[in-house]
Amino acid sequence: MHNERFTLTARPEGRLGPDHFTKVDEDLGPLQDGKARVRVVYVSLDPAMRGWVSPSTDSYIPPVQLGETMRSLGVGVVEESRTDACKPGDWVTGMTGWTRYLDVMPGQLTVVPKLAKIEDYIGVLGLPGATAYHGLVTEGRAAAGETLCITGAAGSVGSLVGQIGKSLGLRVIGIAGTQEKCDWLTKELGFDAALNYRTDDLDKGLKAFAPDGINLHFENVGGKPFKAALRNMAPFGRMVFCGFISAYNGGPVEDVPDMTAIVRKRLTIKGFAMPDHYASFPAIFQELGKLMMQGKLKYRLDIEDGLENAPAVLDKLFEGTNSGKLLVRVSDL
Ligand SMILES: NC(=O)c1ccc[n+]([C@@H]2O[C@H](COP(=O)([O-])OP(=O)(O)OC[C@H]3O[C@@H](n4cnc5c(N)ncnc54)[C@H](OP(=O)(O)O)[C@@H]3O)[C@@H](O)[C@H]2O)c1
Repeated sequence: MHNERFTLTARPEGRLGPDHFTKVDEDLGPLQDGKARVRVVYVSLDPAMRGWVSPSTDSYIPPVQLGETMRSLGVGVVEESRTDACKPGDWVTGMTGWTRYLDVMPGQLTVVPKLAKIEDYIGVLGLPGATAYHGLVTEGRAAAGETLCITGAAGSVGSLVGQIGKSLGLRVIGIAGTQEKCDWLTKELGFDAALNYRTDDLDKGLKAFAPDGINLHFENVGGKPFKAALRNMAPFGRMVFCGFISAYNGGPVEDVPDMTAIVRKRLTIKGFAMPDHYASFPAIFQELGKLMMQGKLKYRLDIEDGLENAPAVLDKLFEGTNSGKLLVRVSDL
């Protein structure tokens, strides 16, 4: 069987793009005993991919090696199986990588029930959903009546954090990069307020919404929105650090924020990375499934066609031009 995959062949200094990948054409040959052959339907494009191609070994996951298939989450369908772990037609999810087909051992990918759309298993019922729930509930200890602030609020993680926060009875303000995204947050997702970090006075907006300060802050981007949130924390507030996308491309080093607030306001600051928490995914997905059935989680997908376009499309995350969870359709279901 003919296969195409994309390998990392150069490491970027700034933005990651087509020049850093090479297409490999290959013949997969017959499927070996004990394995299953999976046809990839969607791959997920995530900000973390920029970190995975950095040579640094100082992170929660080893770097993708030069010559290796680009690492990515994905969902697919079992085409052929020579193991009892799955059968043809099963849906599977996990680290598929940028490939059209892959042969997997039992346990390498997870068989998922056909209870939602297949793409939901790399969206609301995948890493973004688990990250939002875990960061807000487990790490953030969100409590009813508190004021929650989220940066990157219209993104795949941030938009879910806000909706889960609303379902738990928090007051929610989101910070995003366009008026269209801010309107989506307040008019469709039920956020109490939204600020555009490109055009709004963030201090003024945060003070008006939270005169007594932010109790819980969920950080996705860093830079100016983060510094505004830090200045507007309530005494004994908690800050959960999920990501710092503004720093992933090695852009200009931000001024060091006024860290004295951490002492003055006795803040708790917590970073987390989901690979440490895979064991809690099944319980989290049960909770998210309940919220979905109650119509409390809205979600938008930004789907691009063609695996060959994945290297170029990734940049949408760093330009802010993605509207919702960014996916690439590799084949039709
Ligand atoms: N800790 C973990 O285990 C974990 C797991 C998953 C994701 N994450 C992190 O969660 C964050 C959000 O990821 P996601 O998948 O939900 O991505 P996303 O929010 O769907 O997409 C990225 C968004 O970030 C915003 N952005 C990009 N560059 C920016 C900049 N310089 N300043 C301000 N905003 C910028 C853009 O929105 P605007 O239009 O609003 O600018 C863009 O649409 C990332 O930092 C990611 O690394 C962490």
